[in-house]
Order: sequence, then structure tokens, then C-alpha cells
Amino acid sequence: MRTFEEATERLQWPKGDDSRKAPTQRSGFGLAVPKSVLFIGPERCDEFAHALRLSCQGHNVIAINPRETLAAKKFRRAGGRFIRARLEDLPPKCCRFDLICENYPYPSGRHYVPPRAFAIARLARLKPGGRWILVTESPRYASLLKAVGAHDGALRSRFRSTLSPLSIDEAAPSAYPRADRRFRLVFRRCR
Ligand SMILES: C[S@@+](CC[C@H](N)C(=O)[O-])C[C@H]1O[C@@H](n2cnc3c(N)ncnc32)[C@H](O)[C@@H]1O
Repeated sequence: MRTFEEATERLQWPKGDDSRKAPTQRSGFGLAVPKSVLFIGPERCDEFAHALRLSCQGHNVIAINPRETLAAKKFRRAGGRFIRARLEDLPPKCCRFDLICENYPYPSGRHYVPPRAFAIARLARLKPGGRWILVTESPRYASLLKAVGAHDGALRSRFRSTLSPLSIDEAAPSAYPRADRRFRLVFRRCR
């Protein structure tokens, strides 16, 4: 059986509202061991549908965003755990995750966060063996994040990363990205 991480990575964010397709796509996805999953910056229905599905499968799922959309309110009403805050507000010592999912952080503009601070805020919240999966339209930002992991002495020995292009169809259908390219960056904490 595929691992939770591989399955989630492969099935992450099909285009459109995948809530009806999900059960068949995810057959064999059930796990004996619940995982802790964090969704950073979700806004859309399909992001919360994904979070809710994992939650219904018994995983411990948190969605965090200082911005609460209508989809977030529905998620909360359906029993999902939504925290209206910034990721940085979660204490890293007691909040560690097996999987962190994030779609289209701001790669520039007034919300821009320098790559090192951005990466460390996320990597510090991964359990050993855990993954941070980021989808972005920005090859530059993705490369800078990858470089942080490769060149920072404290991170290099603890994390491995892969950066791969995605087709538009494979990526989440967000209204934010202006460019028509998509990339997936995965950081895995080795120890
Ligand atoms: C460009 S939007 C992308 C929204 C959505 N994920 C999508 O794919 O359409 C970035 C989102 O990240 C949220 N965000 C920004 N900084 C954050 C932080 N430090 N912690 C959690 N969420 C954050 C913003 O409020 C915003 O909703």
C-alpha cells in the first residue's frame, strides 16, 4: 500500500471540486496510525474538502490562516479545526506535523516573506519523517526556498528537498497565480 505521504502527495489538489471523486481516488488510503496534518493558508472549498476528508479518516488536521473565508467557516461548522492565526503563532515545540500542505503563498508583493524565514517557520514544525508540500507558481521563490535547505548548515543535514514542475491540471485551481506555470516543492525531514 502507498504510504500516507506518497498518496497525499500524488493526489494533492486535483483540479476543481474533487469532493465527489475523492473516495474512489483514495481507496486504500486508510491508515492505522493517525497523522498530524497542517494546512497553511487555505481559502478555497477544495482545500477544505481535502482537509475534512483527512480529518474524517481519523487524522489530526488543523487549518490555519489569519484570513477566514466562507469555506473556512463551513469547514469549522462541519467539525474541522480552523485556527484564525498565522502559522508563526503556533508554538513550534508543541505543534509538530507529519505533513504540512500549502498552496500558493505570496511569492512577492507586500505580503512577501524572505525565503529563509519562510522556510524555517515551516521546517521547524515538521516531525522527523514529516513533509512540507508547497505548490507555487513562482520558480524563483521555489528555488530560493530549496537553496535555503541546501545551503544552511543546520538544515542541510536534516532535510531533503525535491522541486518538480506540475502541469496546470495537476495543480490546485487557485485564482491567485498570475503565471501559468506550477511547481511542487517537497521538503522531508530526515531526522
Ligand atoms: C495567495 S493566498 C493563497 C490562498 C489559497 N491557498 C489558494 O491556493 O488560493 C495566501 C494565503 O496565505 C495566508 N497566509 C499568509 N501568511 C500566512 C501565515 N503566516 N500563516 C498562515 N496563513 C498565511 C493568507 O491569508 C492567504 O489566505
